[in-house]
Amino acid sequence: MAAETYAKGLEGIIAADSSICKIDGVNGNLYYRGYSIFDLAAECSFEEVTYLLLYDELPAPTQLAGFSKKMRGSRTLAEPIIQMVRFFPTAAHPMELLQSVISYLSGYVTHHIEHSATCNCRNTLHQVAQLASVVAAHGRFRDGKEYVPPDPDLSHGANFLYMLRGSMPDPLESEIMDKCLLLHAEHGFNASTFTARVVASTLSTCYSSISSAIGSLYGSLHGGANERVMSMVQEIGGIDNVKTWVDKALSEKRKIMGMGHRVYKVKDPRAVIMERYLEQLSEFKNDYTYFEILKELEKTAGERLSGSGKTVYPNVDYFSGAVYLLLGIPPILFTPIFALARVAGWLAHILEQRSDNRIYRPRCQYIGPDALEFVPQEKR
Ligand SMILES: CC(C)(COP(=O)(O)OP(=O)(O)OC[C@H]1O[C@@H](n2cnc3c(N)ncnc32)[C@H](O)[C@@H]1OP(=O)(O)O)[C@@H](O)C(=O)NCCC(=O)NCCS
Repeated sequence: MAAETYAKGLEGIIAADSSICKIDGVNGNLYYRGYSIFDLAAECSFEEVTYLLLYDELPAPTQLAGFSKKMRGSRTLAEPIIQMVRFFPTAAHPMELLQSVISYLSGYVTHHIEHSATCNCRNTLHQVAQLASVVAAHGRFRDGKEYVPPDPDLSHGANFLYMLRGSMPDPLESEIMDKCLLLHAEHGFNASTFTARVVASTLSTCYSSISSAIGSLYGSLHGGANERVMSMVQEIGGIDNVKTWVDKALSEKRKIMGMGHRVYKVKDPRAVIMERYLEQLSEFKNDYTYFEILKELEKTAGERLSGSGKTVYPNVDYFSGAVYLLLGIPPILFTPIFALARVAGWLAHILEQRSDNRIYRPRCQYIGPDALEFVPQEKR
């Protein structure tokens, strides 16, 4: 019998082959299907990267045009979905809404094949296209505003901002929103992606796989760090308070939110790119408040931590919350935005899982009592 391996949380265990994403934590790079995130962010749209993730190659212009047309055509929400989103209690978290709405969506697709390894989601693009519409609609209903239908002339990021605000975003804002989605589209075998693959491995539907992945992303150890970064920035209040705040936080053994990463031992490449967007938006809005506090905090916390022999750099969440706030997006939508971007990666992993499937079935190490003598009810 093969030697048994025990790794709490499956840490360090390789559970599958994958050709979707490679993270280079030493050199600070990230690759989707072999292409560096720096090139993809510079050259591609979210739609183009979604195609790359789902079809394993960059699209030729005609392929991209056809794909974009299909994805944009799938954005419209059916009336019962709009009603579901409208009546979802605003006291609840929108991640719970997303989890439910994805399952509900499955009832409104006529041509996906249930319980089959040849699922048709790559062709319908239903979940990838509609999650953005759902989040935007929820954002409007929360503010007592009306649903705004999608605009097929806009990129995925621009359309999201348009549906959320009800007015046309500036080209720079559109570009940055679309790139933020691209940066979050995929990141290897993290908890939510693994969840999607586990559910897919039972040959359950894409809808239930993605709904489960959303539930996994909702947890505070996975999504949501950018929301906490912005709470921290509010707490700091101004650039002059940074040094005192860092000293106090570190003396209390508090973590600096948005800094540090299990895999990246240098600055997260997505943070490098996101920082540029924040600077551009700060200039566009003529408001450098967040940018200046975050840069000072990065410098001060980095120096203090390296003084204790720890190398800790910004991760993707460090600058993204400030970018979203400058785009007029409320913090409650930050994790849902993560989900509407990551759904492209989840779907790619679901398809990959199905292409060479084996149901996941790890074991636990039993540490409970053994062979107890049964005690009848009247003697307990
Ligand atoms: C992401 C995270 C859990 C990784 O933790 P990790 O794997 O333990 O990271 P490392 O092993 O590189 O940490 C080395 C040391 O730096 C410390 N450290 C890491 N991130 C830190 C941070 N953000 N603030 C202060 N100290 C930090 C660790 O506590 C550890 O100290 P120790 O040796 O005294 O225990 C951690 O960095 C963290 O909690 N960051 C803040 C939350 C966050 O941004 N999460 C989103 C991640 S995408």
